[in-house]
Amino acid sequence: SSSTWFGPGGEATLAGVPLVRIAQEFGTPAYVLDETDVRLRCRAYRSALPRAEIAYAAKAFLCRAMADWVRAEGLSLDVCSGGELAVALSAGFPAGRIIFHGNAKTPRELQTAVAEGVGRIVIDNIAEIGRLAALVPLGRRQKVLVRVVPDIAAGAHAAVRTGREDQQFGLSIASGAAGEAVARVLAQPALVLAGLHCHLGSQITAVEPYEDAARVLVEQMARIRETHGVVLPELDLGGGHGIAYLHGERGLDLASLAARLTAAVEDRCAGLGLPAPRLIVEPGRAISGPAGLTLYRVISVKKALNHTYVAVDGGMSDNPRHALYGSPYEVRLVGRRPQGGMRTVTVVGHHCETGDTIAENVPLPADVHPGDLIAVAATGAYHHSMASSYNLTGRPPIVAVGPEGARLLVRREEAGDLMRRDVGL
Ligand code: LLP
Repeated sequence: SSSTWFGPGGEATLAGVPLVRIAQEFGTPAYVLDETDVRLRCRAYRSALPRAEIAYAAKAFLCRAMADWVRAEGLSLDVCSGGELAVALSAGFPAGRIIFHGNAKTPRELQTAVAEGVGRIVIDNIAEIGRLAALVPLGRRQKVLVRVVPDIAAGAHAAVRTGREDQQFGLSIASGAAGEAVARVLAQPALVLAGLHCHLGSQITAVEPYEDAARVLVEQMARIRETHGVVLPELDLGGGHGIAYLHGERGLDLASLAARLTAAVEDRCAGLGLPAPRLIVEPGRAISGPAGLTLYRVISVKKALNHTYVAVDGGMSDNPRHALYGSPYEVRLVGRRPQGGMRTVTVVGHHCETGDTIAENVPLPADVHPGDLIAVAATGAYHHSMASSYNLTGRPPIVAVGPEGARLLVRREEAGDLMRRDVGL
């Protein structure tokens, strides 16, 4: 549930701050993020899984303030690029609590990760094992996890399913690649194998795939003990916890995930005579997604033959998810009382292609007109982090709201920012 409140007069607030005031002060489009909501979601994870390590997946959304909130709430951080690592470190995030992911980490990223003392690096291919070991200074050992493919189908869209065979992430158990990676890591004195990792996919709303994955990975841990005589202390089941985007939709139930996942791991371990490893989960969307919304200004309302198009001052550059995955969104009029009924419209952006749609066939008040303010909910994850400057539109600012009101976290990208990288004629 998000903390947005829509009153009968169209007045809408986030964390008590009127959205109209945010639009006036910071302009549109703008991403608005409820700090308290983010923090409460961090706490909900910690209390649902008190013995587990909760690593927030930075790819969902990261800026320095966000890294600071996550640190203060006692979470770890999952990063998947040198850029995310740099932002986290510059916010003072402790390197030891960072997990570094990626199927194609560059030698430079690996070098920075080792030099900065990143807690765990996730091995996702054979080539990086030797490459990584060579970077570890004498007298030190780098902890790693090996990412395996559990061969489980889960995830809202083909583009975000990563748990099956024959996609580019993780090492296949069936092909023997996972076993080879484990043997090679164990043969490197500079590396310590802390455990296994998998990530099934994203926007998953059922618990079963996680239970299945836990069993598959525990069985692999038992095999590793048989083959190599080592007991691995950690089991990282990745993220992918789904959220509600639409009214009445339900995300993954955290309480039931916690109970059933813990039981699946303990039961399977007991059956195999293994000590239960420490669980790690990596929620991204479930921490920041519901805490954010996007504010747009309506620029035009156009009647086509069979559709009405409401065009706003943002679009696929701040929300590419409809274009990429066909993701549905709801749109709300903000800041005035509508006259008359509702009509079905398609909300589009200002970019130069037909696919630039934010919400297709959604209800908006029939009197929606240029100048109106509209809000799109649940945009706190994979919106700013996936934003582009397509058509040389600057990316929107991020405004945090909290008990002290509204404050800017990341300012709007202006033409000057866009030109700073252009070295000239
Ligand atoms: N851990 C790993 C290794 C991941 O690859 C991901 C997401 C996560 C954790 C966090 O997943 P989450 O809990 O946020 O679902 N751009 C897509 C989502 C791609 C997710 C990629 N990996 C979207 O907008 O739906």
